[in-house]
Amino acid sequence: MITFQEALDLVNHKIECIQYPERPDGLYLPMRYILSLKGKKVRPVLTLLGCNLYRDDVAEAVSPALAWEIFHNFTLMHDDVMDKADVRRGLPTVHKKWDENTAILSGDAMLILAYQHMALTPENKLKCLLDLFSRTAAEICEGQQYDMEFEHRLDVTEKEYLEMIRLKTAVLLGASLKSGAIIGNAGDSDLQALYDFGIWLGLAFQIKDDLLDIYGESSVFGKKTGGDILCNKKTYFLVNALTLSDAKDHQELILWLQTSDNDDGKITAVTSLYNKLGLKEKAEEKMKDLYQKALDALSCVRVDETRKKVLLDFARELMGRNY
Ligand code: IPE
Ligand code: IPE
Ligand code: MG
Ligand code: MG
Ligand code: MG
Repeated sequence: MITFQEALDLVNHKIECIQYPERPDGLYLPMRYILSLKGKKVRPVLTLLGCNLYRDDVAEAVSPALAWEIFHNFTLMHDDVMDKADVRRGLPTVHKKWDENTAILSGDAMLILAYQHMALTPENKLKCLLDLFSRTAAEICEGQQYDMEFEHRLDVTEKEYLEMIRLKTAVLLGASLKSGAIIGNAGDSDLQALYDFGIWLGLAFQIKDDLLDIYGESSVFGKKTGGDILCNKKTYFLVNALTLSDAKDHQELILWLQTSDNDDGKITAVTSLYNKLGLKEKAEEKMKDLYQKALDALSCVRVDETRKKVLLDFARELMGRNY
């Protein structure tokens, strides 16, 4: 069995070994740049751990693992343009360091690079993994579209929010984990249970991301604090603030949502309202709920408990993270 650290080291090493064409460097340098920044590598680690539930040799899971991480970084490159985010992983985003067109085209090239890595999957699993990859990628586009549309709506329900984050975030965790288990020859019911585990974990993961966007320390979290507030993102917090605030606070909130020339004032005022409504505690409760559902799904996986431990420890770490 491999440890979490061994899985992470393997992923980091393989990412460092990626060969990029030399020219044009305007296309390939940004790819190299974003992939060299210190990310958590959640998705490729899930792939390796998913495979390791069923077999000790995870070598065949390495290419799909890299594919998910490259794909994830492609989504971030475009997401930062869409979210007008200047900082990621503590450093300037690609569209800030270069420009928006660079982020668009380098992102496109990364999507292709991701497919090339997925295509290195052993032939007997190739069709299955490519189907999973394409379906997941399309769902993430759907989630990102809802995310943007919701910026302009005030009536987004928690149910709609959860479906949006299932699509933009959770399916990638579910699919990464499932792909590793496919390589490991897991049976259908285990594959479904692992996918479900990834979905529940991914929902909790995105709520934690929403929480850190408000309450995180930017030097640790690596992104600008309050970025979601400035974009009127319908996060777990804003969706709940809009439904739970009294008439006066609701009106004040609406006024802030219409404000775009007082960033610090907006972040401070909206955060105060979240505090007043106890939304941090509510989000933590919701995360606990979702995490329990993830554990319930994992308990249906017919693998020795000791084999599940690395995955469980990793999931718990993710819930408690501050970056
Ligand atoms: C950021 O993902 C995008 C979300 C789905 C919240 P991560 O928090 O995994 O980002 P990195 O890869 O560790 O930087
Ligand atoms: C991430 O959502 C979803 C995708 C990138 C597909 P966010 O917009 O919340 O991610 P961060 O906070 O910028 O990392
Ligand atoms: Mg976004
Ligand atoms: Mg973003
Ligand atoms: Mg976020």
